[in-house]
Amino acid sequence: MKLAVVGTGYVGLVTGACFADMGNDVWCIDIDKKKIQGLQNGILPIFEPGLEEIVKRNYDEGRLRFTTDLKEGLGGNRIAFIAVGTPSDEDGSADLQHVISAAREVGRCIDEYIIIVDKSTVPVGTAAKVRRAVREELEKRGRGDIDFDVVSNPEFLKEGDAVEDFIRPDRVIIGTDSDRAAGIMRELYSDFVRKGDRVIIMDIPSAELTKYAANAMLAARISFMNELAQLCSATGADIESVRKGIGADSRIGSAFLYAGIGYGGSCFPKDVKALISTMKNHGLEARMLAAVQEVNILQRRYFTGMVIRHMGEDLHGKVFAVWGLAFKPQTDDMREAPSVDIIKELRARGARFRAYDPIAVANARNLLGDTNIEYSRNNYEVLEGADALLLLTEWHHFRKPDFDKMRSLMKSPVIFDGRNQYDPAKIKEQGFTYYCIGRA
Ligand SMILES: NC(=O)c1ccc[n+]([C@@H]2O[C@H](COP(=O)([O-])OP(=O)(O)OC[C@H]3O[C@@H](n4cnc5c(N)ncnc54)[C@H](O)[C@@H]3O)[C@@H](O)[C@H]2O)c1
Repeated sequence: MKLAVVGTGYVGLVTGACFADMGNDVWCIDIDKKKIQGLQNGILPIFEPGLEEIVKRNYDEGRLRFTTDLKEGLGGNRIAFIAVGTPSDEDGSADLQHVISAAREVGRCIDEYIIIVDKSTVPVGTAAKVRRAVREELEKRGRGDIDFDVVSNPEFLKEGDAVEDFIRPDRVIIGTDSDRAAGIMRELYSDFVRKGDRVIIMDIPSAELTKYAANAMLAARISFMNELAQLCSATGADIESVRKGIGADSRIGSAFLYAGIGYGGSCFPKDVKALISTMKNHGLEARMLAAVQEVNILQRRYFTGMVIRHMGEDLHGKVFAVWGLAFKPQTDDMREAPSVDIIKELRARGARFRAYDPIAVANARNLLGDTNIEYSRNNYEVLEGADALLLLTEWHHFRKPDFDKMRSLMKSPVIFDGRNQYDPAKIKEQGFTYYCIGRA
């Protein structure tokens, strides 16, 4: 099939590359010239395991092409995905300016039937706005006769596993009011759901809401565990035992039950906010979601509170080694990373940092600058002379480090583990003072 993907970020690039890899003819379009030039020269704007190889192979073989020219990218295509950003507006609602602007551009370019697919995460009612914007542009051109459908097809991939999630989705949600569009979309996704039909066709508002409901539910599980972890600390219970105990219940399941320093990234924080805003717009109060959000913010302070209680209110002269800056492992994405708030708060009290992350350093430097923070690509180097280690992202290679080497490098063997990577009893035997989240 012939496809265009408007917006070549995390979602657009993965979508375009994975569809091309199934033999489709794909144009990825972006307004960012530097990004498109980079891609045309084999330089990916993001790190995502397995993506580079798929992009390069499909680009070399001519199935995947990149352009800043929407007309070139859309020419003759039957399906146009809109995968542009939907950041939070000042009031917390989803800012739809990029989606509507992309929709208008599509309306200015098409000459025949097309399916316009909202792949971006957008609130209920957006497909209707997209339809209106496209229709207006067509009428301005005197081409109100051109037929098109708007479909909601939210994306559920997670950064760090994006390619795998796209190729083997748990489900594909297609919101549509058109049998014709439903048939074409089902056919397009059939390559990814060969083992069993995981395509769920529904009405458009339900599809739009499903994406927010999924992210809000996952965020709620994290906040629930974080709140419970504080009770564990207060009572001597162990959040890891509680996690295993409740996760074994098939009604609950074991995923997304890890206590830590809260959720971050480009999706959960903004999507919870946007859902709260949508409810408000409908005269409803999102009591539960507001609590999910509040607990998440407080969890970062809970962590810095542990640090301050041990190290003192005034952190001048203290040096912290930091392991992990990205909001989660396997990504260089720093959007809403808990590490940013934690470092900023401790830095305001005078602390200095030596920070390590295998791939997120460049993005972290853009957010945190260089004041009182040095960056390194070696996780042992940052420990030299450190008063304590802050473990903020659970990169796999932090699990079995050389504890003897760590102890010999650090000024004092203190670990604040925001991701519960170690067994508290074992690490104490190694001679460390160990703080973690809700563990006995
Ligand atoms: N990142 C994720 O893990 C993830 C997962 C699922 C859903 N989503 C949703 O997908 C959407 C995209 O997220 P992302 O992380 O890929 O964003 P991103 O910021 O990485 O990429 C968006 C891209 O769109 C481009 N763009 C903006 N306006 C444009 C226009 N008019 N024409 C062409 N290109 C334009 C930008 O230059 C940018 O490259 C968001 O709604 C997000 O909530 C993201």
